[in-house]
Amino acid sequence: VTVAARRALAQADVVVTDRLAPRELLDELAADVELVDVAKLPRGRAAAQEAINQLLVARARAGKRVVRLKGGDGFVFGRGYEEVMACADAGIPCTVVPGVTSALSVPALAGIPVTHRGVTHDFTVVSGHLPPGHPDSLVDWAGLGGSKGTLLLLMAVDNLPVIAEALQQHGRSPGTPVAIISDGSMPTERTVLTTLGESAATAADHDVRPPAVIVVGDVVSVANPTAYGQALV
Ligand SMILES: C[S@@+](CC[C@H](N)C(=O)[O-])C[C@H]1O[C@@H](n2cnc3c(N)ncnc32)[C@H](O)[C@@H]1O
Repeated sequence: VTVAARRALAQADVVVTDRLAPRELLDELAADVELVDVAKLPRGRAAAQEAINQLLVARARAGKRVVRLKGGDGFVFGRGYEEVMACADAGIPCTVVPGVTSALSVPALAGIPVTHRGVTHDFTVVSGHLPPGHPDSLVDWAGLGGSKGTLLLLMAVDNLPVIAEALQQHGRSPGTPVAIISDGSMPTERTVLTTLGESAATAADHDVRPPAVIVVGDVVSVANPTAYGQALV
């Protein structure tokens, strides 16, 4: 988290936290700070988000200084803006503190740059929670398959076989380097290196589980040249 986030936590009366939030920070809270763990609510249901929104508003209306602590950046697949809108609707002033998204920090922790001069001029952060072809999907998988940039796939472990297939169908080479980094920043952090063509089988062989960031692109081999049969430079 940023210095601003630490300052906000130090001034909080109530902290509302999530499963992927940096929980070690909670140990630093004063004993009288109310801690609400919304990870215990059922995930992904509209009702759970509504309950969180109501909780934030109720505590703020009670005169409390409320910090909503999320993993990474709350505006990157974090539903943060829904909470901002709920506060705005209720007339509760709030400040957004940007976070460090796992899309960028988890590859960096694994020693993989998301861009590298002469290798890629773009990166795209993609949610893989819906498979390619799903009627509700908003992702242009054909475009991503045809592009050359780094792909940072979040929430994509379960759909990796169909995602890898779609990217290859639309132009990415089966030999494209892939890194699957799970549990970034945790003691159980692990990086599995593979290629697009082998990625589904490798993930299954290594029993890869979420949370994971999947990096697709030549930056993976730049950071791990010997794993891809390249000479160290
Ligand atoms: C609902 S999204 C939230 C992303 C978050 N707002 C962010 O900016 O990092 C959850 C996904 O983020 C990724 N993720 C979050 N924390 C992670 C971690 N510590 N290690 C690996 N992946 C992580 C995984 O792809 C996970 O399924």
